[in-house]
Amino acid sequence: MNALLGHVLKDRTDRQYQDFGYKVLRGALPRDKVDAIARIVRDVVVPHQGPLLRNTGEIAPHDFFDGTTLIRNPLANAHLPLSPAMEPLESALTAVVTSPQLAEALRKLDGADHYNIHQTLLFFAAQTTELHLDSWGLDTAPHGFAHTLWIPLQDMTPDLGLPGVIPWPRGKVVTEAELGLSGSGSDAEGYEPYHRALSAKLLAESPDVRTALVRRGDAIVRTSLTPHFTLPARAYPCENISHDFGIAGDLPAPAGPYR
Ligand SMILES: [Fe+2]
Repeated sequence: MNALLGHVLKDRTDRQYQDFGYKVLRGALPRDKVDAIARIVRDVVVPHQGPLLRNTGEIAPHDFFDGTTLIRNPLANAHLPLSPAMEPLESALTAVVTSPQLAEALRKLDGADHYNIHQTLLFFAAQTTELHLDSWGLDTAPHGFAHTLWIPLQDMTPDLGLPGVIPWPRGKVVTEAELGLSGSGSDAEGYEPYHRALSAKLLAESPDVRTALVRRGDAIVRTSLTPHFTLPARAYPCENISHDFGIAGDLPAPAGPYR
């Protein structure tokens, strides 16, 4: 199926994205709209008192790093009308994730006609994310044809905890069986053993790691199977306002969880 899909999409996909599983989209987003999100984050979201939907699925107030106004717990799906107080944020996020410029940039990657946004996350501070695949959260069938976009809402410098990716051919799946795992149990039970074994395998191969000093208006897009993590911030915690979201084109259709 992967081979057939690869053949069908061959002329509709970006070569670099196909071969390396990521691409830096420079100047692909309307910078004024990106700046509007950052302004709303600082002026409306940070001072907000009250519970909001978080990446863990909890509805909780801000969890500040001690002695700072840096928020530890990211917001989930703030592009949806979940809180009247967050309406300005909802509008500003929607303006970016549904912008024609972004659709055009994605279309150059895979030629899809329509895109479905599955999840958005809004980060306020540098993350400490370990190596993982987004495929375990949500993917297409076959795996690897959903995208995740990481959008900086401030200009990045080397010390801010940048995302790093390991170049990865689009659609390449490493199964649990290949990692010597039984695959029994639920997805939740399988997540940790899979990623522990995958990390060991990848690190043993001395892989390249790619990142980019992206600026407002840029984005880094990667496939749902591209291994990625957060490079360390020089001083932690530090502000790193960014937006991460999962999106899939209408070819192929979105499917359920990993496996
Ligand atoms: Fe991720």
